[in-house]
Amino acid sequence: MQKIVIDGGVSLKGEVNVSGAKNSALPLLMATILSEGENVLNNVPNVVDVRTTCKLLEGLGAHVEFSKGKARIANEDISCYEAPYELVKTMRASVLCLGPLLARYGKARVSLPGGCAIGARPIDQHLKGLEKMGAKVNLSHGYVEASARRLRGTVLLMDMVTVTGTENLMMAATLAKGITEIKNAAREPEVVQLARVLNRMGAKISGAGSNCISIQGVDDLRPMDATVVPDRIEAGTLMCAACITRGDVWIQKIIPAHLVAVTAKLREAGATVDEQQDRVRVRMKSRPAAVDLSTQPYPGFPTDMQAQFMALMSMAKGTSIIRERIFENRFMHVQELKRMGAKIKLDGGQATISGVSELMGAPLMATDLRASASLVLAGLVAKGRTEIHRVYHLDRGYQRLGKKLRGLGARIRRVSAQVPKTIK
Ligand code: EPU
Repeated sequence: MQKIVIDGGVSLKGEVNVSGAKNSALPLLMATILSEGENVLNNVPNVVDVRTTCKLLEGLGAHVEFSKGKARIANEDISCYEAPYELVKTMRASVLCLGPLLARYGKARVSLPGGCAIGARPIDQHLKGLEKMGAKVNLSHGYVEASARRLRGTVLLMDMVTVTGTENLMMAATLAKGITEIKNAAREPEVVQLARVLNRMGAKISGAGSNCISIQGVDDLRPMDATVVPDRIEAGTLMCAACITRGDVWIQKIIPAHLVAVTAKLREAGATVDEQQDRVRVRMKSRPAAVDLSTQPYPGFPTDMQAQFMALMSMAKGTSIIRERIFENRFMHVQELKRMGAKIKLDGGQATISGVSELMGAPLMATDLRASASLVLAGLVAKGRTEIHRVYHLDRGYQRLGKKLRGLGARIRRVSAQVPKTIK
């Protein structure tokens, strides 16, 4: 077990490069199931969720090589159609193999994900959509079992905007007979990237990026040679790191247009953000102004940035209100931030944060990926030492965040956490 140790109080300065997006790499890796031959994916972040996905593909029979940001996946030998409980319980996005397996092989068996730290997160929309496309879907012993001779195109009206739901159904529809329309579709850049890559593989998808995606099914797809888009959430996290430490940082290898909502809120809070083609310079000179926000599907403010922004607001001048509208329980960081001296009141899906002038270092427990990132941000500015335990949550989605922050001057390191001896 490792822990992160941060000695706070350094203003970050310098340049940092952002890695490829976990939430783009995962569906792209799953999309390789749709083709036969060797797929190549570049700019793949070396994070635990990516390695779990590679394991899942290997379990299906694929040959996977992953090194130095490049993944090669050959799927000729797929002979198993199952995502087992052991993998799904560690990564809900495993469910993204359902659509591709069903479309290409006519069958799939995927463990039903349980609840998770940030909310119930059902997959009813994925299943309802596949059933509407003609699949038989059964629940048996905790697994979803789906089969179909060939899926058929239809109109799918999603009850809510779901990112992986849209991705799963879009992938399924690429090999279906006829036209599928996904209405109330997710518009996230990762959905657009997936559609672009699928089109390069021979799919016929239009409308990705709007709330109505149309997919004309084809008989087969070619392998992909694609590059994962930059991680807008890692970029946003680093932007908040620059602001909370009152630093001056160039955040590079990004697509600034994907960060419009985050940039707008940081500017409202008093940051100077200069945008160039593939990088932004973020500066903040004094305590942030208090800013209210509600999380929303893209292009609104991302739920994946809510915890990090709350860390920033905990030091704001004044009171801010943050409403979480996507996940009902995504406030696990609040109790830990309060242990550092933050003043936060929770009322259902709403947090009221009365800014303080100083946070204090403390021993903390990471609870989920983005909550961990918010504790790192708070630790960077806190007075004294912060120790964050259960850092494996951070490793699921950030590639070497500590090293990147160290490169900007932060005093952050990883050490082995002593397992306490039982007291007799
Ligand atoms: N929902 C349903 N039924 C469904 C699907 C979703 O009720 O069938 C609900 C969810 O419970 C939630 C809302 O719809 O309340 C939106 O969930 P969504 O399906 O969009 O989430 P997801 O696809 O499971 C992806 C990201 C998350 C990110 C959300 C929202 C990936 C692999 N994961 O999850 O990323 O928070 O979209 O933007 O793309 C993270 O990276 O830390 C992370 C959690």
